[in-house]
Amino acid sequence: MKKKSPAHKKIRIAIVGTGGMANVHATEFLKIPGVELAAVCDVDAKRAEEFSAKHGGSAPVFTDFKKLLSEGGVDAISNVTPDSLHAPLSLQAIAAGKHILCEKPLATNHADALRMARAAKKAGVINMVNFSYRNSSALQKAAQLVRDGELGEIVHVEASYLQSWLSSQIWGDWKTTPAWLWRLSSKHGSKGVLGDVGVHILDFASLPVGPIRSIQARLKTFTKLKGKRMGEYPLDANDSALMQVEYANGALGVIHTTRWATGHANSLFLRVHGTKGALRLDLDKSYNELEVCLGEDIHKAKWTTLKAPQTPNIYERFITAIQTGKQGEPDFTRGAEIQKALDACFESDHLGQAVKL
Ligand SMILES: NC(=O)c1ccc[n+]([C@@H]2O[C@H](COP(=O)([O-])OP(=O)(O)OC[C@H]3O[C@@H](n4cnc5c(N)ncnc54)[C@H](O)[C@@H]3O)[C@@H](O)[C@H]2O)c1
Repeated sequence: MKKKSPAHKKIRIAIVGTGGMANVHATEFLKIPGVELAAVCDVDAKRAEEFSAKHGGSAPVFTDFKKLLSEGGVDAISNVTPDSLHAPLSLQAIAAGKHILCEKPLATNHADALRMARAAKKAGVINMVNFSYRNSSALQKAAQLVRDGELGEIVHVEASYLQSWLSSQIWGDWKTTPAWLWRLSSKHGSKGVLGDVGVHILDFASLPVGPIRSIQARLKTFTKLKGKRMGEYPLDANDSALMQVEYANGALGVIHTTRWATGHANSLFLRVHGTKGALRLDLDKSYNELEVCLGEDIHKAKWTTLKAPQTPNIYERFITAIQTGKQGEPDFTRGAEIQKALDACFESDHLGQAVKL
């Protein structure tokens, strides 16, 4: 049991990094009774001022994270900075005794992610990583069906996460928007599509099926600009990743992700096939419904739609965890497990062979 916050006490949250995704954090936290946006922090003071004004107008602005930790009087930090800052800023927050919700990927390598998980455990603070697609109740239902043995023994898995912002203007022009540049260059700490959304699909494909035992990966960085750089930044982070995996339960899977999936904005698919049944999810169609083929229907390949009851989102689960002192999922340990799979992908791509986890 972690230290808990009395139910009547307001939970004072600070958001650090006030770019695109921070708007989701602020909007969702402010919907929860008893939560106060107590501070915001960004190195870009103007952006932080505008952000504070947009989300209630009362949260004081900090440009120095250390000062926020010592003077902000907050209970918890939502770390929504670029990936390379997840480890250093979260570790500072933990050292200051703050509960922490960190954006994904938890870190940029497994060693840092483990350090974060251990530090959070030792400090006794609530720690969660934003694998946001767990908010899909269809995914939670899929995990329950597998756990309950409805699909029999799991044999074959197929999962993909498809985006197209490199081949389209669906989210604007990546060449002129800083939020895209830091996703394209290792000099910014980027781990490419793998670190950006590959972490989501690895979590998505292993939450219902269980841990991955080995991975063989192929990563590719396509030429996007003449000279393969933008100013001082080489455009060297991977844009496409193919993974062939074996799960601890013996099932085989193919998991892939790309930013070149023309025709898709942000699509996640999962198919799980077992000896007694199968399920499939398409988040473009629904977050709360999945299709199943079970029982006698497997002999007709007949699929039925199942509705899954709404599950609390990560912001609600984080606050509940602080209020009850009971650690929520996914925690930093899970973030570190996924980071281990990521490191294995880079090793496998380099060696040209499968790597055990
Ligand atoms: N879970 C999800 O579904 C999801 C979706 C989108 C983004 N994200 C993650 O959220 C994070 C932020 O992504 P984004 O798209 O909002 O990026 P962004 O570039 O729009 O915003 C990042 C912000 O961090 C600020 N920043 C940089 N260094 C800082 C520092 N030292 N202290 C304080 N602020 C600092 C920047 O000025 C910027 O305002 C990334 O880690 C990304 O992977 C997660």
